[in-house]
Amino acid sequence: PTITVHADRPGHPVSPTLYGIFFEDINCSADGGIYAELVRNRSFEDAAKPEHWTISGDEKRVKAVIDESRPASPKNRRSLKVSLGGGGLTPATVSNEGFWGIPVKEGASYRLSFLARVEGGLRMTPAVSLVGDKGRAYATERFVGLTPEWKAYSCTLRPNATDPKAHLSIQLVGSGDVWLDMVSLFPEETWKGRPGGLRPDLADRLAELRPAFVRFPGGCWVEGDTMKFAYRWKETIGDPSERRTQYNIWNYHATHGLGFHEYLQMCEDLKAEPLFVINCGMSHREVVPMDKMAEFVQDALDAIEYCNGPADSAWGSVRARNGHPAPFHLKYMEIGNENGGPPYQERYALFHDAIRKAHPGITLIANVPTEKRPADVVDEHYYNTPEFFLQQANRYDDYDRKGPKIYVGEYATTVGVGQGNLRGAVGEAAFMLGMERNSDVVAMSSYAPLFVNVNHRGWNPDLINFDAVRSYGIPSFYVQKLFAENLGDATVPVDVQADAVEVAPPGGAVGVGTWLTRAEFKDMKVTRGDEVLWSADLSHGLSGWKAVSGRWDVAGGALRQTDPGENMRAVAGDKNWTDYTFSLKARKLGGAEGF
Ligand code: AHR
Repeated sequence: PTITVHADRPGHPVSPTLYGIFFEDINCSADGGIYAELVRNRSFEDAAKPEHWTISGDEKRVKAVIDESRPASPKNRRSLKVSLGGGGLTPATVSNEGFWGIPVKEGASYRLSFLARVEGGLRMTPAVSLVGDKGRAYATERFVGLTPEWKAYSCTLRPNATDPKAHLSIQLVGSGDVWLDMVSLFPEETWKGRPGGLRPDLADRLAELRPAFVRFPGGCWVEGDTMKFAYRWKETIGDPSERRTQYNIWNYHATHGLGFHEYLQMCEDLKAEPLFVINCGMSHREVVPMDKMAEFVQDALDAIEYCNGPADSAWGSVRARNGHPAPFHLKYMEIGNENGGPPYQERYALFHDAIRKAHPGITLIANVPTEKRPADVVDEHYYNTPEFFLQQANRYDDYDRKGPKIYVGEYATTVGVGQGNLRGAVGEAAFMLGMERNSDVVAMSSYAPLFVNVNHRGWNPDLINFDAVRSYGIPSFYVQKLFAENLGDATVPVDVQADAVEVAPPGGAVGVGTWLTRAEFKDMKVTRGDEVLWSADLSHGLSGWKAVSGRWDVAGGALRQTDPGENMRAVAGDKNWTDYTFSLKARKLGGAEGF
């Protein structure tokens, strides 16, 4: 091929915010991930039984229940009550398994803290240890003076051995009732030395990506399945023991230890702009009636004041009390996640009017093209095959330059790439070149999702994989890093002369759902053994449209589904499948177009 670069004819400036990151608490990215807390279910709020805790001892003497009768905090009512009958010397042992083990390092320091009270057991002296699987204690501390009132206890534990899968064990000797709550263990070494902060190795991975911005906290996590489980930022600030512990749509519980304030702090430490996505009164299954929307719009205004208001403003003073008197300078707010249709348009207009009036400097990002009020930026999401991304490299060449800017807020190769591979990364790279070439219209982008704890893979693939002590980036991580590290100032026109090459996908996927069986051939003849690439634009009332694609094998003139297709299943699963309409295109490999 001949490539001619016209360096003498600079095009448009490249958007300085083109490459950011998308942080969602999915796949245990926050709890069990970058948030360095080592105890799982520390405040016993996860369930009516003590999940992730084991209570052992003489069965006749030991009883353990979750108790709400005298909570340490009215916001987190549950605590663990252990009753130890008299007449025996064997201890009761209360152990926490952590997030698939508690990793400890010889000589490192760990801050243990908990709340406790006793009744009828004033001489009880709990011993707290870090313990290996053969029962060896790596560090122990004894606590005396427990009282009938809730009291906070803490100490530093320094293990004398390294073990990636230790556990925390609390031994109780004597008799009486003991209540435990907010049992927490934090490595003293956190990223940038922030107490209760982030795992340094994972935060360093984010810093490697040099993100221009961080979109948080999601994703579907913003929406929740129903409004009860929607993300509400006000419940995630202040004393961690007062924050709401909440069921996360990705199938685990969130402590909100990494709360709104900590996300902002993380952005500041990464030197990245915060981009906050606020719930717009819409969850996956419920929509807040218009006459009840004031509270949600107020949440948005208060979030902006929390970030940007002076330290003596109502919410600015809360920020100052939480340790950050200076403003965080929030510039970007996205209204909702993957919401659409008339309910979204109506609600977007409410947020638009209130925010424009009170905070005109905020860049407003919408989920879909808006109809009633303008948006500065529109967010587009793509999960698809490597071939789709190659084909979409020219997608933005013809976008309207007078319309809103585009934020490609979520994209990744998800079909036929295993847990991430070079083929997927190359597909994304081709697409990213198209975004960069058109970054006069594509102002921002972020790969999704960012993290996966390999013990809880709720979505695949993910940019950074980790367990309790290790992490690695998939090939896409190195593409993201390469592009962010080499962001140019301006585009230059490039001519490429080369022979066309047919790229066949290695595996393939076809869609699921009755609509496929109703599709008919028009201009394309297929015979046994042919392979057909297809792509479709899906649209439905709620979330605008998504583009999907895959491959069919043809057996005896009929389409045979060879693979259910992860991407299609995700699309089908999350919203009302029957609401979709399709515009379907197919191409026989090396042959004609059809449908
Ligand atoms: O990135 C995973 C999920 O994909 C996000 O939560 C959601 O916005 C999208 O559907």
